[in-house]
Amino acid sequence: MTLLHHGRAAPRLAALLVGLFAAALALATPVSAANLFEDLGGKEGIVRIVNDGVDRVLADSRIKGRFVDTDIKRLKSQLAEQFCHISGGPCVYAGRSMEQAHAGLTLRNAEFNALAEDFQAAMEQQNIPFTVQNRLIALLAPMQRTVVGQ
Ligand code: HEM
Repeated sequence: MTLLHHGRAAPRLAALLVGLFAAALALATPVSAANLFEDLGGKEGIVRIVNDGVDRVLADSRIKGRFVDTDIKRLKSQLAEQFCHISGGPCVYAGRSMEQAHAGLTLRNAEFNALAEDFQAAMEQQNIPFTVQNRLIALLAPMQRTVVGQ
């Protein structure tokens, strides 16, 4: 009797456990954010986007003057960590807060838009689809109030 009971219950219990495990995984994984990291080409893709984006910023007469005293190698690596982190990748951004990093610069909205344009062009150059570009831009847009006017 016990054996018979066990024989029927075990597959059901196993199926239940598999279902619960799948549900727990789905809850634990920030699906859209994790996909954005992948859609940007993972850490390597993000490094390419950041390197190209910063090079465009440094060639952009609207804002390049802002970076004359900046350690560009450090800026690129901090930006790559930050983009990796906010897109759901396995990185930890350990740089300054946006308020601290831009303190005393009193940046204008037009300068913020110029930088966003340069990064969008970098993503275009890396063949990142428009919808994916917009998902990263949508994560950067709320930072405007912490970057501009500090
Ligand atoms: C969403 C927009 C932006 C993001 C995510 C961002 C992100 C960052 C990050 C991660 C750093 C490095 C912080 C550190 O090393 O601790 C940084 C530094 C810097 N950012 Fe931005 N930034 C943004 C917009 C801008 C804009 C619009 C400008 C100027 C046009 C700008 C100018 C600078 C400068 C000059 C530094 C270096 C400051 C220093 O060396 O002390 N940023 N930014």
